[in-house]
Amino acid sequence: MKLIDLIAGARPNFMKIAPIIDALEKARANGSHLRYRLIHTGQHYDRNMSGSFFKQLGIPDPDINLEVGSGTQAEQTAGIMLGYERVLLEEKSDLCVVVGDVTSTMACAITAQKLHVPVAHVEGGIRSGDWTMPEEINRMVTDTVTNWFFTTSEFANENLRKSGVGKDRIFFVGNTMIDTLLKHLPRLQIPPVWNNMGLREKHYFVVTLHRPNNVDAELNLKNLLEAIIQGARGLPIIFPVHPRTAKNLERMGIKTDGVHLTEPLSYLEFNSLVKNAFAVITDSGGITEETTVLGVPCMTLRDTTERPETITMGTNELVGTNPDNLAPHLERLFAGKWKNGAIPPLWDGKAAERIVEHMTVLL
Ligand code: UD1
Repeated sequence: MKLIDLIAGARPNFMKIAPIIDALEKARANGSHLRYRLIHTGQHYDRNMSGSFFKQLGIPDPDINLEVGSGTQAEQTAGIMLGYERVLLEEKSDLCVVVGDVTSTMACAITAQKLHVPVAHVEGGIRSGDWTMPEEINRMVTDTVTNWFFTTSEFANENLRKSGVGKDRIFFVGNTMIDTLLKHLPRLQIPPVWNNMGLREKHYFVVTLHRPNNVDAELNLKNLLEAIIQGARGLPIIFPVHPRTAKNLERMGIKTDGVHLTEPLSYLEFNSLVKNAFAVITDSGGITEETTVLGVPCMTLRDTTERPETITMGTNELVGTNPDNLAPHLERLFAGKWKNGAIPPLWDGKAAERIVEHMTVLL
């Protein structure tokens, strides 16, 4: 038997790890030598950010919870490393699987590799080039201590090759986040805001904002919201608010008339809202992948992206962080001239199966 640690810490990790668990369970039922333990770092800990995802996506209770909780980047990194090191010293695993680019990803990858546990990085190799984003630092550091890369795009493969990673360590498997989306599409749930606001298909916007660059400076957040409200031409704007943004909106006393704020939504509710939206305006990376697959126009309020295929192939456009940039994009949208987009290669719902096939050979 070989023991695999699956690391999940923050909201965008849960939908990436769920299909890997499904595929490992399936393999186990067929006599596989792979077993796993699920380790939740506790970076996200409340029902809205964590619990509801476990429930809806059928993720089993974690075997271990490091309960790191909130804190600065350094506090979280240190807390997770201390907690995971204890776990490994008690029982060493044969592989540490990390997903995405959050603090938990980097902290566990370093801890594992220092104890000579090989690391596999799901979604390895993507790069925005923007070192002001904590996620970019996490990606770079994680990838320097990763043995095997399970990648989502040719862009990621190329980045890895350019940085000297041998082809034998790169496995282009597709996108586990899309595995989850395709699996759950038939059971999306209409959120209460749909009836409360009398929403109609393709007649409202969905907005999400949580990047420190956009939401930590009062003027930036205020100007972005104003540009969105003005540009929406009276269509309802539904904004499920991330805890960081909620705290800032309150602290800064920013008026949000014209925007309908909600708590962070569950997975099935959020994607139901996105699927039926006229367009999404966001600074998230993962959502640009989901809108690409759902064929929903998406405007990204960032200056860079680590997911260029959502633009070259998908329905996403990089608007930038200057609020003035939004107007021409909205013009195009209202004129019915938004691109149609296509689905990137291997985003077919089978990425996790491919990952488990590779792990079966590697371990
Ligand atoms: C993290 C990830 C980011 C991801 C985002 C999705 C890093 C560096 N960033 O950023 O990549 O897109 O999650 O949500 O890992 N909080 C709660 N409840 C929770 C969790 C957090 O209220 O369950 C609060 C915290 O107290 C903190 C804020 O939300 O004030 C931010 O949480 P944190 O984990 O520090 O980073 P995110 O901004 O969520």
